[in-house]
Order: sequence, then structure tokens, then C-alpha cells
Amino acid sequence: FAAGDPLITEIQDWNRYLGEGVDARPYGSPSQFEAHVVRKNVPWLTSDAVSSVNFTPLHELDGIVTPSGLCFERHHGGIAEIDPAQHRLMINGMVEKPLVFTMADLKRFPRENKLYFLECAANSGMEWRGAQLNGCQYTHGMIHCVMYTGVPLRTILEEAGVKPEGKWLLAEGADASAMTRSIPLEKAMEDCMVAFGMNGEALRPEQGYPIRLVVPGWEGNMWVKWLRRLEIGDEPWHQREETSKYTDLLPNGKARRFTYVMDVKSVITNPSPQAPITHGKGPLVISGLAWSGNGRINRVDVTTDGGRNWHTARIDGPALPKALHRFYYEFDWDGSELFLQSRAIDEDGFVQPTKDELRSVRGSNSIYHNNGIQTWYVNKDGGIENVEIS
Ligand code: MTE
Ligand code: CO
Repeated sequence: FAAGDPLITEIQDWNRYLGEGVDARPYGSPSQFEAHVVRKNVPWLTSDAVSSVNFTPLHELDGIVTPSGLCFERHHGGIAEIDPAQHRLMINGMVEKPLVFTMADLKRFPRENKLYFLECAANSGMEWRGAQLNGCQYTHGMIHCVMYTGVPLRTILEEAGVKPEGKWLLAEGADASAMTRSIPLEKAMEDCMVAFGMNGEALRPEQGYPIRLVVPGWEGNMWVKWLRRLEIGDEPWHQREETSKYTDLLPNGKARRFTYVMDVKSVITNPSPQAPITHGKGPLVISGLAWSGNGRINRVDVTTDGGRNWHTARIDGPALPKALHRFYYEFDWDGSELFLQSRAIDEDGFVQPTKDELRSVRGSNSIYHNNGIQTWYVNKDGGIENVEIS
């Protein structure tokens, strides 16, 4: 202090010289000092990048909205690059009037704006048999939460007129994987959307530009990107993504199918393995995310001693149904080892289970729907590791 901090006592370059003017950055990007804040993949998980996944850097974010450029990507056949003028949405099957819409047609329907999380059913899927990946980006980063703008699916279905025998909807993508999923008509009429906007701008190509299906609270695989066709039928189609994939093998050899809802879940994003404690003992902010496909989150508990004592965390910012919730727990760290966990409870009363509780019911052969409680071990230096305790 006596010597004086040169960052206070001396004039810096950015203070001495004029900066770039307006229009130097017509579509803005983050500061050059944020270059490490990027989506990342795990190279050994998939054999190539075309049918693969990368992960949202949750440990670098705050609040509940995921910036468009950081939303994790999951493609089964790469990114389709579609000229919206060449794109069509078709409705066929058990409807009074089969229809084809242009993008201009879709934008003439009344639209709505909704903030929702999208979680891949395989999020945390690598953790079924024990702690595996070191960082919440990799253990929990197959999730994002953005503001969608679009037309309620119900409006489009009513325009075509669903016949009384119509009970199911097949959604199909225009990409090389031609992703197809069967969705019960009840859900389609309840809160699904055909979205063309995210966070106030057009969908990004990675997220399905020019249109994607939004299926609030349900597994990400059903949110068909580059949406090109909706078919109405009287039973599910039993496509690849609902038979060989996105089913959950149980200990008795049978598989759960059509497990749509993403159950109540939470994770501490800071501190975490990629974001260790660097400031030593004293005031420490613990922060994380909680969500439930059933609706809102009622409460989040945090423990620093592996579950012996639980404290109610503070939820800050909007608490919207089927959207991420941001929680905080502030305390004075005495510099001793910690076992950090968070546990969410949703408005239907569902409590996030421990990983052992989950395995006692579902075994460990699954990939999908792992909503077990995550543990981070903090050592005395503030370094952090993904562990499991029982
Ligand atoms: N839709 C199409 N057409 N093709 C795809 O590969 N991947 C699905 C779903 N919709 C996919 C798709 C899967 S498994 C998930 S988890 C989400 O899109 C991922 O959405 P995102 O890439 O916007 O994160
Ligand atoms: Co997925």
C-alpha cells in the first residue's frame, strides 16, 4: 500500500488514448479477456465431431440466461445450414387440411416469448458408475436456458385441424440425421412451440435455424431442430431415438421407454473443479443452478460437509416454470476441507435423490436421466475434484 498501486497511481493506455469508434464491431463479441469462456467437447466421448456434443461452460456464467453463442450443441448429423427462404414446414397425416408453411407464413401467427431450459437426456450420463469428468461444464453442461420467440404449436395444429383419431405427433428435422420423435398430442397442445427466435435474435444455426421445436421440461432429444415436418397419427412411431436410444435399461433387463420429463436437479457451478477457490479463507460465494421439468423450484439446500448439515440457499432472479433457477449460499470459509452438494425440491414436491438412491431403483446401466446429487471435494488450497461419498 505504501508503494502505491500503479493501477491507481499511473495513467493506463485505455485512459490515455481514444478507443475504437462505433461500428468497429457491428455484431458484438465478448472482451478479448474472456477468450477462455467457450463451449468444449470431450474428444474421447465420440468418434467424430459430426455426431457429437459440446458443453456449456456453466462455471463461467451467472444468472439464468445462457448466451446464444455458449449454448451446448448436440448434433447427430452435423449442423444444417438452411436458407430460410428455402425452408418449409409441412403438416400431414390425420389432419383435415395438410399444409405447407413458409417462414413468412409462420410469422403471421400470434407469437409468444418463453424462457425454458433444454437438458439433453444424456446430461450427467457419464457419471452413472461413479465420478468421471472433472468440471460442471462436462458433468452438467448439456443444458441451456434461453428466451424463445415463436408460435404455439397448438395454433399451427388448429390451423390444419387435427382429426379426432389423432393422438400423437411426429416431429422431423431437415438435417442429415432427419431426427424424428413421437410426442403425445396432449403435450403438443399444452405448451410446445415452433420457435424462430432465441434471446431476442434469430435462432443460431447450431440451435436449429430457422425453426426448432420447443418441448418445455421434456428431454432435449425431442426438441427437433431445423424442423421440417409434423405428422399426426394415432400411435407412436417407435423411431430409432425412442427404441435403441433414449430408453433406460433397468437392473431386471427391461427398459423404461418414453421417459420424457427431466426430473428435479441442481448443481453447484461455483466453486467447482474448473473454478477453484483462489482467494483463501473468508467470505465465499457458493452459486449454482436448479431446474425441474415439472415446473418451478421451491427450495434448494446446500451442504458444505457432505450432507450432515443442510442450509437453505437463496434463489435470486426470476423463478419461472421449466426454466433454470439461480441460487446462492454465502458463508465464511475457515480454510478446511469441504464436501459441497446441492439438493433441489420442485413445486410438485419431488426431491433430488442421492446417486445411491437413484442407483438402488434404476441400476447403473443407464445413460440417460441421471439427476443424482453432485459432490465437489474442496481441499485446503481451494482445489476441487469431482467425487462421490456414501
Ligand atoms: N434435432 C435435429 N434435427 N438433429 C439433432 O441432431 N439433437 C437433439 C435435439 N434435436 C438433434 C435435434 C438432441 S439429442 C438434443 S440434446 C438437442 O437437440 C440439443 O439442442 P442444442 O444443440 O440446441 O443444444
Ligand atoms: Co440430447
